[in-house]
Amino acid sequence: MREVIIAANWKMHTTPGDAGDLARTIAGRIREAGVTRVICPPFVCLDAVRAALAEADPEVAVGAQNVHHELAGAYTGEVAAPMLVGLAGWVIVGHSERRRDAGETDALIGRKLGRAVEAGLRPILCVGEQLAERETGRAEAVVDTQLAGALTDHDPAALQAAGFVIAYEPVWAIGTGRNAVGSDAAAMAEAIRASLGRLGWGSAAVDVPVLYGGSVTSANIGEFLAEPSIDGALVGGASLKPDEMAAIVARAALTARARAAAA
Ligand code: 13P
Repeated sequence: MREVIIAANWKMHTTPGDAGDLARTIAGRIREAGVTRVICPPFVCLDAVRAALAEADPEVAVGAQNVHHELAGAYTGEVAAPMLVGLAGWVIVGHSERRRDAGETDALIGRKLGRAVEAGLRPILCVGEQLAERETGRAEAVVDTQLAGALTDHDPAALQAAGFVIAYEPVWAIGTGRNAVGSDAAAMAEAIRASLGRLGWGSAAVDVPVLYGGSVTSANIGEFLAEPSIDGALVGGASLKPDEMAAIVARAALTARARAAAA
């Protein structure tokens, strides 16, 4: 039985002055034991969110949105994995906004994954195609290439032991209000597990949680969680709104309970 995960990506929102209050408010609204819940604020808000959640609900995890591919060195403005230890338990790598704005390649993202695993952080690897790639029938091939590029040098067992998660985030659905169709996202989740199988994961591929991300709201979360191959969501804009998070996590709890009952 795969776990059900709702991860909040706050992107470049909140400040150290207000992030703790928002995290506390959201934590109070998402008390669902069966759902793995993660909040990923900006680096400078990690400590405030960590402290707030330690009080409000220690079961809600904290994640970073990025990590550097080296352990230390002359990398002005960057944050290395060992620096996150104690502040975050999770980390997002390969978000499309970083691929776009920071020129991150699949190989570089693969190195970030390695640093995350070494530091004991639970990684969420983001993959997803551009609109033109979907419209020309290349979405699955693009995602397969992203996975191969990032995962080739990684031992599946080590990643699995680190709690590796994949988030399928079609770029055209991010921040656009235009979410993917549930069945398309489910087909991609199956394709992702097939890619993992070809990358040496064997039967372990079926155990990797695959989340959907891209304009997820309380109104459409049910469409994704109705798909057995999808294990939750990586939520952007809606994750800053307590009402939205409450409804999204409540819906996820239904799926978690149904899975537990069926197991
Ligand atoms: P939105 O939910 O704002 O579309 O963002 C999705 C995302 O990029 C989460 O990582």
